[in-house]
Amino acid sequence: MKILVTGGTGFIGSHTVVELQAVGHEVIIVDNLSNSSADIVDKIELISGIKPELEIFNLSDKELTADFFKRNKDIDGIIHFAAFKAVGESVQEPLLYYRNNLESLVNILQGMKDSGIQNIVFSSSCTVYGQPDELPVSEDAPIKIAESPYGNTKQISEEIIKDTVKATDILAIALRYFNPIGAHDSAIIGELPLGIPNNLMPFITQTAIGIRECLSVFGDTYPTPDGTAIRDYIHVVDLAKAHVIAVDRMIQGNMANEFEVFNLGTGNGYSVLEVINSFEKVTGLKLNYKIVDRREGDITQVWANPDYSNNVLGWKAERGIDEMTLSAWKWEQVLANK
Ligand code: UFG
Repeated sequence: MKILVTGGTGFIGSHTVVELQAVGHEVIIVDNLSNSSADIVDKIELISGIKPELEIFNLSDKELTADFFKRNKDIDGIIHFAAFKAVGESVQEPLLYYRNNLESLVNILQGMKDSGIQNIVFSSSCTVYGQPDELPVSEDAPIKIAESPYGNTKQISEEIIKDTVKATDILAIALRYFNPIGAHDSAIIGELPLGIPNNLMPFITQTAIGIRECLSVFGDTYPTPDGTAIRDYIHVVDLAKAHVIAVDRMIQGNMANEFEVFNLGTGNGYSVLEVINSFEKVTGLKLNYKIVDRREGDITQVWANPDYSNNVLGWKAERGIDEMTLSAWKWEQVLANK
């Protein structure tokens, strides 16, 4: 099958391309390289032996996107990753986020409608749940008012998709990710944060390798066992595999509803200090860190109830926290030797 992967040179996108190729799908990537580079397709080829096709343009451009879909009516399914994702930046530049993340989605859905392409998997986030009232959080938990314009683009995108599915033949699956970390086993692809990382795992590995002096742990007075905030970290390869299952489910006509939502998490929550402990254990290194104030907008704790994904998709996250932190470290070491 021919699968369009938007944002396919990014962190989760590139790992998903590899998994799609592994089961025999042909992949075409559309990416504007705003947070990645074109040589990722060579890295993908190193792993899979197949160089995916890459078209470089901005999906927020209505004409270019319409032209792409006119030329590619034979696409069987779309996995839509392409989006801005920095929470803090979205607070500073909300219009940039709304324009980029929402216009691109609308253009893609229009292209699907015009070209008769039926299937789309959308990259959503557990951020839509905010601080959930009950843990673990299931797919039917209420959507909370978004903490950031970034989070709001995920909520609004799900609404746009829901309305479009009702009015057209389009089918959609939204995958709500918890906290993706780690890198491919080959350490040929991984996360490439631009500038100072916002996220915990790349900050840990950059501190350990000496790029950053000290990791700031944002708060140790949360109502959790060790006082630091808890998240459901998931290995990016486990996450990537779920996308293949989701897109196959649609193409094979196995969906129970025209719009389905799945949590992608392990079901286990780890505190910031537990992640640091895992990293220190698997690497044998001592990480330089200090406790500082809480980060604005952070929730106390969230972890997934993955039962619905496990049962309905037949997918389960297989890699534990130690495997995640070790693979992130191997990747950081590869980057350091470049
Ligand atoms: N943290 C630190 N120090 C750092 C970075 C993070 O202590 O330098 C802590 C955070 O306070 C949080 C945990 O590590 O408790 C995880 O933080 P991340 O920034 O890695 O991840 P978040 O849970 O804040 O954010 C992630 C995604 C967002 C998404 C959000 C939904 O990055 O895209 O989950 O909750 F919106």
